[in-house]
Amino acid sequence: MDTNTCIRTRRSVRSFKEEPVSHALLEEIISVASYAPSWKNTQISRYIAIETRETMDYIADHFCMSFSHNANIIKGSPLLIAQTFVKNRSGFTREGTYDTDRGEGWQYYDCGITAQTFCLAAHEAGLGSVILGVFDRLALQEYLQIPPEQELMALIAVGHPAAESPAPKRKEVSDLLSYR
Ligand SMILES: Cc1cc2nc3c(=O)[nH]c(=O)nc-3n(C[C@H](O)[C@H](O)[C@H](O)COP(=O)(O)O)c2cc1C
Repeated sequence: MDTNTCIRTRRSVRSFKEEPVSHALLEEIISVASYAPSWKNTQISRYIAIETRETMDYIADHFCMSFSHNANIIKGSPLLIAQTFVKNRSGFTREGTYDTDRGEGWQYYDCGITAQTFCLAAHEAGLGSVILGVFDRLALQEYLQIPPEQELMALIAVGHPAAESPAPKRKEVSDLLSYR
């Protein structure tokens, strides 16, 4: 699949077949995602693969903040990735001060790039994925025993797509681009 096709045909997939995602496939996707650009090549993104049904159901039942939409996605997915990042590197000087007025924001920027790269690599590999931002971050961070030097960023449900997902409408280039 060429790059444009991969970007244009990737969709957020919210329903999956029961078929598990092999470790070989997941590791290939992580390897591709590792090529995402990052602040001073700090490569702060980390991934926890949650693949036991009990744990995923517990997360769905306890950390989705009554947002049943996300709970149902997690309950129906064979694999849930918890994306974390190593704190205080991206956007920071060696002395631990902010490099720019963006402060801690570059950490989130880097995670966004790696998450999209992950999702594109998953799509290329024939898998579907959806990034989930609505969950009780602090409580889930504690449950997953994320080490103190890391922070939980996002969840990504992954699996073999059960059906085609429609493409939400995109803005026109003229709405997005301006020249000076
Ligand atoms: C940071 C972020 C958080 C998101 N959170 C959720 C979520 O909690 N639940 C969900 O169903 N989709 C979530 N999405 C998926 C978006 O709804 C989706 O990307 C958007 O509607 C465009 O659809 P597409 O990905 O198929 O192009 C999230 C996407 C991003 C980038």
